[in-house]
Parts: sequence; structure tokens; C-alpha cells
Amino acid sequence: MNEQLLIRFATGADVPQVAALEQQIFSEPWTQTGLEETLSCDRHIFLVAQTAGQIVGYGLLYCNGDEGEIPTIATHPAYLHQGIGYTLLEQMLAEARRRGVVAVYLEVRRSNLAAQRLYAKCGFLIVGERRHFYRFPDEDALVMMYEKKE
Ligand SMILES: CC(C)(COP(=O)(O)OP(=O)(O)OC[C@H]1O[C@@H](n2cnc3c(N)ncnc32)[C@H](O)[C@@H]1OP(=O)(O)O)[C@@H](O)C(=O)NCCC(=O)NCCS
Repeated sequence: MNEQLLIRFATGADVPQVAALEQQIFSEPWTQTGLEETLSCDRHIFLVAQTAGQIVGYGLLYCNGDEGEIPTIATHPAYLHQGIGYTLLEQMLAEARRRGVVAVYLEVRRSNLAAQRLYAKCGFLIVGERRHFYRFPDEDALVMMYEKKE
């Protein structure tokens, strides 16, 4: 990636590109309407990674009081392994901490080792599992938690 990477808050104009990436990457993608609803709630964090005018990654973090939840995060398939997921996740967590969040939870497919390693690199630990949590294909989820350090 030669162009500079910009991490910024998403706007309505980003939603079609993010929805298209969700369709491409996930078997149960977020819809454009779901993404727009997320954007309209100022409690939620919705960041995008942009380079050369293109969206190359995005992440959502829902803040509910002092707890957060990450419903989705992804990097454009052509831009994997370039630090985008890590940069996005670190900035989402920093923003959540600024908003008073002290613990962040997420679910991840048991087979998704790339995502599990990304989360572990950012300080998440496995704290549980949910049997048959996912469909298409059916798979268990691992529950991971990040805790703000004092
Ligand atoms: C998970 C995902 C977001 C990582 O994005 P990325 O931009 O490629 O990640 P980065 O380049 O920032 O890598 C950060 C860390 O993630 C881990 N990682 C990323 N890809 C990996 C892979 N293929 N295998 C193992 N570890 C991997 C590594 O620990 C890496 O750190 P390192 O480079 O120091 O080893 C990306 O693979 C993706 O979009 N996957 C499809 C969507 C998805 O599964 N989202 C998560 C749903 S729970």
C-alpha cells in the first residue's frame, strides 16, 4: 500500500461501499439499512479505513454504558496483512475508552484464526463459547473480551 492510510468516522456516503464489502466477505452480511441505523446512533462507533479514496476496511463498536460490543470488522480482501485491521481495532478501542467503556465483547467463528489472532494482539482473551452461534455454515462462536487496563 503506497498511499497513506486514513482512519476516520464513517459518513452516510461510505455506507454503500461498506455494505458491498460486507456482502463480499460475510455469509450473513449487514444490510445497508442496518449500517445506516448504526450510523444514526451517536453512541455507536463506526470507523472506516481509506486509502486513495477507496474504503479498505471498516469496523463497528457499539457502546452501552461502560460495555462495548464489536458486531463487525473487516479489511478489503485485496488489502489484507497490511496492518489495516490492527490499526482500525486499536483506534476503535481508543475511542471506546475515551467514551468510558471498560470492557468490550465480541463473537468470532472458532475456525477464524486470523481474526482471533488480531483480537489477541489487541488484548482480547477468550472468555466463553456459544454453541451453533453461526449459520451458513453452522459453527460455534468463541466469545472474546477486552478489558481496559488501569
Ligand atoms: C481479521 C481481519 C480483519 C484482519 O485484517 P488485516 O488487515 O489483514 O489484519 P492486520 O494486517 O492488521 O494483522 C493484524 C494481526 O492479525 C493477525 N492476522 C491477520 N491475518 C492473519 C492470518 N491470515 N493468519 C494469522 N493471523 C493473522 C496477526 O496476528 C496480525 O498481526 P501480525 O501481522 O503482527 O502477525 C481480516 O482477515 C478480515 O477482514 N477477515 C474477514 C472478515 C472477518 O473475519 N472479520 C472478523 C469477524 S469476527
